[in-house]
Amino acid sequence: MSKAKVAILISGRGSNMAALVYAAKAADCPYEVVLVASNDPEAAGLDFARAEGIATFAHSHKGMKRAEFDAIIDAEIRKAGANYIALAGYMRLLSPEFVSGWENRMLNIHPSLLPKYKGLHTHERAIEAGDTHGGCSVHIVTAELDDGPVLGQTEVAIIPGDTPDDLAARVLIAEHQLYSRVLADWVNNEKQ
Ligand code: GRF
Repeated sequence: MSKAKVAILISGRGSNMAALVYAAKAADCPYEVVLVASNDPEAAGLDFARAEGIATFAHSHKGMKRAEFDAIIDAEIRKAGANYIALAGYMRLLSPEFVSGWENRMLNIHPSLLPKYKGLHTHERAIEAGDTHGGCSVHIVTAELDDGPVLGQTEVAIIPGDTPDDLAARVLIAEHQLYSRVLADWVNNEKQ
């Protein structure tokens, strides 16, 4: 069976994107990465993607209307032949048009146990709340921020004395494992 084609959107270092790319090297992985796109031409993850021989597209969103910028990204993704999108540290709110155009075809990874701690500073908030665990979630992207149906989560124990950075580093390890597994399951289910 042919592989699902995934476009990954990043804004920064792209470690989750790298994890998805490495997982895709396995012969039995049901997806391939056809494009890495960014709203920041300086995003470090773009160098990684280029070195791995993956097509990249970068365009700054600065000075553009949200919908106008999203239309440019959307056109590139479709040109690349992608039928799924994985957001991986993509620090842009998406326009309703873009989200509805990829309904049930776009996933995101978030560094908390959703529905807890949507938005930013998730690790700090979990520690301050006295939680025993932080973690990460992969969810379907809907119009509301960090709000779509959760497809998978990994709990990460908070160690007494953890700083937000300590916790973030361990959650990131869990993120890298969770995302590729959930994405693979998701595209497998969708293909049936
Ligand atoms: C990750 O923690 C991810 O959960 C969040 O942003 C961070 C991106 O890191 N959405 P990276 O660019 O994948 O390394």
